[in-house]
Amino acid sequence: MTDCQGNGEGSNSPMELYEKLNAQGDIVRSLKTAKAEKTEIDAAVQLLLKLKTDYKQVTGQDYKAGCPPSENVVASDNGPALDGADGEDTVDPWNVATTNAKGVDYDKLIVRFGSSKIDKELVDRVEKVSGQKPHRFLRRGIFFSHRDMHQVLDAYEKHKSFYLYTGRGPSSEAMHVGHLIPFIFTKWLQDVFDIPLVIQLTDDEKYLWKDLTLEECHRFAVENAKDIIACGFDVNKTFIFSDLDYMGASPEFYRNVVKIQKHVTFNQVKGIFGFTDSDCIGKISFPAIQAAPSFSNSFPQIFGGRKDVQCLIPCAIDQDPYFRMTRDVAPRIGYPKPALLHSTFFPALQGAQTKMSASDANSSIFLTDTPKQIKNKVNKHAFSGGKDTVEEHRKHGGNPDVDVSFMYLTFFLEDDEQLEKIRQDYASGALLTGELKKILIETLQPMIAQHQERRKLVTEEMVQQFMTPRPLNFKL
Ligand code: TYM
Repeated sequence: MTDCQGNGEGSNSPMELYEKLNAQGDIVRSLKTAKAEKTEIDAAVQLLLKLKTDYKQVTGQDYKAGCPPSENVVASDNGPALDGADGEDTVDPWNVATTNAKGVDYDKLIVRFGSSKIDKELVDRVEKVSGQKPHRFLRRGIFFSHRDMHQVLDAYEKHKSFYLYTGRGPSSEAMHVGHLIPFIFTKWLQDVFDIPLVIQLTDDEKYLWKDLTLEECHRFAVENAKDIIACGFDVNKTFIFSDLDYMGASPEFYRNVVKIQKHVTFNQVKGIFGFTDSDCIGKISFPAIQAAPSFSNSFPQIFGGRKDVQCLIPCAIDQDPYFRMTRDVAPRIGYPKPALLHSTFFPALQGAQTKMSASDANSSIFLTDTPKQIKNKVNKHAFSGGKDTVEEHRKHGGNPDVDVSFMYLTFFLEDDEQLEKIRQDYASGALLTGELKKILIETLQPMIAQHQERRKLVTEEMVQQFMTPRPLNFKL
């Protein structure tokens, strides 16, 4: 499925209307220059006016030559495009908030963002094309939304490969368990499709947004790279880069940044990201830097200058605004649009009303936490869907849909049958909250301890190797 179904880029899509308007404007101008018959000019002007009315209806904006609609534009009957408006859930790169204890309404988000649902058909296709059992994140709808994944698979079936791109904003030394979600899934995609991967560490972004020095951000990038490497990526197929290093080292990367900057207006980024007049200009132009790795010729050492290698971006859906902008720009600078796979959010310990976030230590389980810290945090903070007393719980059962411990298990417990049994036992009251928390603690403690062991084995030389621009080993 393409965006055509997702955001109405059908016969009356914003972009098609915009292009028709451009063409009709040219016709009117040339008729006037050629001093054509008045009736002919009038008819052309009438058509131009009608197209302008249609455009306003579909995009909610006035047509302006040289200012194309962004992918962010959502037809008026699809509800508001701005996050958080009209009591909608807020989902953007900086905030995730809902009033619903079950978490964000992801079905509504698909409609609002104009992406497509990852349905059973797509999961079955991934299984067929890769020849592997789908990852639990796919089986359980944790990766729930996509853009153009069918197109990626169509091409792959015809032996046309693709590359993966994902990233991390290094705002602190320690990453939390939620950050692992896209990396665990990206590692699985790299393994099953046997493809190259680029990982962007946006130390520049964190310098612009946070009260941190450039040196701190760069140091966090290197520290975070160790956690990312500990996820098991293949050094022969993976390039990890800090923006602060790579932007200066790669003329091709910077050329793409500039091209993107030329094709996005201030109005557009204001609409997409909510920037205001008092935001520094670094923030306003940053989205072009997150967009650039979506184009293969930003990495000539890997793709030898080819600009047509399809990119697939796994990330949580908070990053989608960057890539709506990227997909909007891509055809205008002669590049393929990147495809996307979006995940849901790993919730905060206090409940699914918000995502786990590094800026709130109590909401997060960090990859540096000790077994004792994990136990204490889960027991003390993990929001429970259980009843107030054991008697009531036994009688009425708990609610796994709002229970954070159960939600965490859906991310990390591999065995589908075991997970379903836990769900049923909790809902029936056979399993108590304390027992459910114990299962979670016993799942997280070894998982994080193993991560810490793997991280200890990551040497400075290995980091250097991953972060050196170089050819990678793959067949396209
Ligand atoms: P950052 O550092 O905020 O997040 C890194 C990745 O983790 C995802 N993520 C989560 N996933 C599930 N549950 C959560 N609670 C959670 N919190 C964060 C993010 O969606 C992201 O995939 N600007 C980006 C860095 C970046 C990037 C990219 C990310 C640059 N290029 C390409 C994805 C793809 C950032 O600050 O991510």
